[in-house]
Amino acid sequence: MNRLTTSGAGYDLARFPEDPRDPFRAWDAADEYLLRRLEGTDESEPVDLSGAVVVVGDRWGALSTVLAGHRPVQITDSYLAQRATLANLDRNGVDAHAVRLLSARDTPPDRIDVLLVRVPKSLALLEDQLHRLAPGVHAGTVVIGTGMAKEIHTSTLKLFERIIGPTRTSLAVKKARLVFCTPDPALARTPSPWPYRYDLPEGVGPVSGRTVTNHAGIFCAERLDIGTRFFLGHLPARSGPDRVVDLGCGNGVVGLSAALANPEATVTFIDESYQAVASAEETFRANTGPDAKADFVVGDGPAQLPPASVDLVLNNPPFHSHQATTDATARNMFHGARAALRQGGELWVVGNRHLGYHTQLRRIFGNCITVAGDPKFVVLRAVKR
Ligand SMILES: C[S@@+](CC[C@H](N)C(=O)[O-])C[C@H]1O[C@@H](n2cnc3c(N)ncnc32)[C@H](O)[C@@H]1O
Repeated sequence: MNRLTTSGAGYDLARFPEDPRDPFRAWDAADEYLLRRLEGTDESEPVDLSGAVVVVGDRWGALSTVLAGHRPVQITDSYLAQRATLANLDRNGVDAHAVRLLSARDTPPDRIDVLLVRVPKSLALLEDQLHRLAPGVHAGTVVIGTGMAKEIHTSTLKLFERIIGPTRTSLAVKKARLVFCTPDPALARTPSPWPYRYDLPEGVGPVSGRTVTNHAGIFCAERLDIGTRFFLGHLPARSGPDRVVDLGCGNGVVGLSAALANPEATVTFIDESYQAVASAEETFRANTGPDAKADFVVGDGPAQLPPASVDLVLNNPPFHSHQATTDATARNMFHGARAALRQGGELWVVGNRHLGYHTQLRRIFGNCITVAGDPKFVVLRAVKR
């Protein structure tokens, strides 16, 4: 946990799940820059926050916590960001109802007076969100984006220009930039181009040629990931009424493959992204009959599953840019999978060879074999004994 100090107050903030070994703070220079701009600077008046304030893409709830007194609506695609926000509000003695939490799948407010956008890593998610928010924006809406300079590209500004109105950026401060956008009510409203659907290639087992649905911002939304492709070629052949989990399901192609290969299985699709779980559900429904059994869960890994309830977990763990985050998420997923598996149940993992997941799996499960490998990827199997 770290303390964020604004001119008015101090806030104790942490990421979620809180991990004392996590070297990263729950906010960065882009959040600080935006908060300073809202308070007003030597060159600018404070922003009037008395109307409907919407905060989009707040990574760990820092912005929402500081702005809680203005009863903002927070919109995010991330379940972990929502949990971080609730934990940070609680940590600072703020009532959870001070911030209205909406997911990227929910209908945004129909009137927005101040729109604050933490520019997401995915341009596609920004595009989809701006399209969905635009009807609530009016000529007087104050629209300010924020991000680290390396996250804000010409393409980012063009999206604001095309969907909301004329856009300019601030000078960089501590490698962060603000985006100022003036709504143009005369701009024609166009629908979001998302979701995107594509057909899988041949040679990937039961899902060959199937159509997958991808909502904006999900992992590998425009083509099949090469690691996933390798996994699809080496999934276990099983039969009977298995309980299978597609852990970190993305568009659900791995779980769909398991369901098509074993129609008696019940597959639970889990992801922390609302857009991913919606994609997985649409992919599954479009490719299976009415008798196919599946659950769709937005959550933090397998944490919500009853212990010892699952026969098979299939997992392509997330690979973030911060190595420490990557390791922690994969490790948490492996621990959670072990708890959810019944005795004799199996966890199958695909990963980049260099990530060394076999070492972690051996530590957590006491065993791990390599089922398949190529120069880049390995498929690993660990059994709960
Ligand atoms: C490498 S992608 C794999 C997606 C899909 N299974 C595939 O192979 O195409 C990892 C997925 O894990 C999800 N994820 C990341 N952290 C998570 C968490 N704590 N709980 C559940 N899912 C998570 C991401 O949103 C992403 O969809």
